[in-house]
Amino acid sequence: MTDITHGRAHFPQDFLFGVATSAYQIEGHAQGGAGRTHWDDFAATPGNVIRAEDGARACAHLEHWQADLDLIRDGGFDIYRFSASWARVMPEGRGAVNDAGLDFYDRLVDGMLERGLKPALTLYHWELPSPLADLGGWRNRDIAGWFADYTEILCRRIGDRVWSTAPINEPWCVAWLSHFLGHHAPGLRDIRAAARAMHHVGLAHGRAMQVMRALGMGNLGAVCNFEYALPFSDSPDDHAAAQRYDGIYNRWFLGAMVKGDYPADVLEGLAPHMPTGWQDDMATIRQPLDWLGLNYYTCKRIAHADQPWPHLSEHVGDLPLTQMGWEICPEGLHHFLHFVQSYTGDLPLYVTENGMANPDSPDQPDEARIAYLNDHLAAAHRAIAEGVPLKGYIVWSLMDNYEWALGYEKRFGLVHVDFDSLKRSPKASYHALRAALARN
Ligand code: FCB
Repeated sequence: MTDITHGRAHFPQDFLFGVATSAYQIEGHAQGGAGRTHWDDFAATPGNVIRAEDGARACAHLEHWQADLDLIRDGGFDIYRFSASWARVMPEGRGAVNDAGLDFYDRLVDGMLERGLKPALTLYHWELPSPLADLGGWRNRDIAGWFADYTEILCRRIGDRVWSTAPINEPWCVAWLSHFLGHHAPGLRDIRAAARAMHHVGLAHGRAMQVMRALGMGNLGAVCNFEYALPFSDSPDDHAAAQRYDGIYNRWFLGAMVKGDYPADVLEGLAPHMPTGWQDDMATIRQPLDWLGLNYYTCKRIAHADQPWPHLSEHVGDLPLTQMGWEICPEGLHHFLHFVQSYTGDLPLYVTENGMANPDSPDQPDEARIAYLNDHLAAAHRAIAEGVPLKGYIVWSLMDNYEWALGYEKRFGLVHVDFDSLKRSPKASYHALRAALARN
């Protein structure tokens, strides 16, 4: 059996390990008085999601949360990165509060503390309340205010006990993947919608940070996703296309949140579609950060394509693939740890998501996942040795769950979930990590 050789003993003493999930992917959205979200709307349209699956039941974490937290504690993890659902806290997105929702997150946070786990809260992991989507969602500038209000309501209740908070998971997915590529809710394919979302996501981040600072909360950060953009060939056109991809994916939000600037090469395409006066918002978007989180999974081969800006097409190279069809490329994680440090200097960094999908069954060891995690931990370790202030590593995901447009088929968990019986079965990777994290 494969081992995780890069375990706790390898890393600095205060290095933290964790697992992550998100609300809509595990909770069971039909329970507990949550409001409808744009993911329910998106999934209801045939063709958007495999088998039109949605998060109505998911892992029924709302019922099983105590046993799920036990699994995290028993695995020897330090951090649980979870998210709260806006629509569970405020079913209409604005106005009335669902007390049962706030009570749930309150109990969940206490449950983590009782088990010695650090609660790492994300305020938005993609389930926008439908009534706000009907008002234009991320295209509407008012979303920054709606999000600030939700932040205040949730954080007044649990902000005193969470260990860290990030406003928005993966701004690129919220904006570009969902408004330009159309793969995620609301499924738009529109450059103007995308440009507006690319800006309003940052603005909402900034407003939420201000609200949390005013409440006296600390350890506030941002979680961005990064994808290693490699040119498909040596041609200058492919190099330029990879640069554009890199700008949209990896430099836009980081530049805005850390430096208060958007990259010029991306503005070439987006400037005509940006909301009027966007320049005046940059100071709000650039809020002091206490840490930066990197979600990293894969690389892409980018070619020039004769189509409208950004004139590119995405390809897969010849590295081994995960169940998602994503190349396994630990080198990219190493690259981004240095890349992000070139923006953030001494700021503590965390790998806030890393992991792989595999067609697991409960009785077959997920050797591929063990190797994936070990190789990425080794890349992280190398970066630390070279001076990157990386302080922790969080696996996606604790358990198999609703993988968005790909439904329940893609299994990312350290723990197998039978979606009929809801039985949880720790996989070999869970046991391997537990052995590697044991303090002796
Ligand atoms: C990330 C998401 C997470 C999960 C993983 C596989 O982009 O944050 O919810 O879907 O990918």
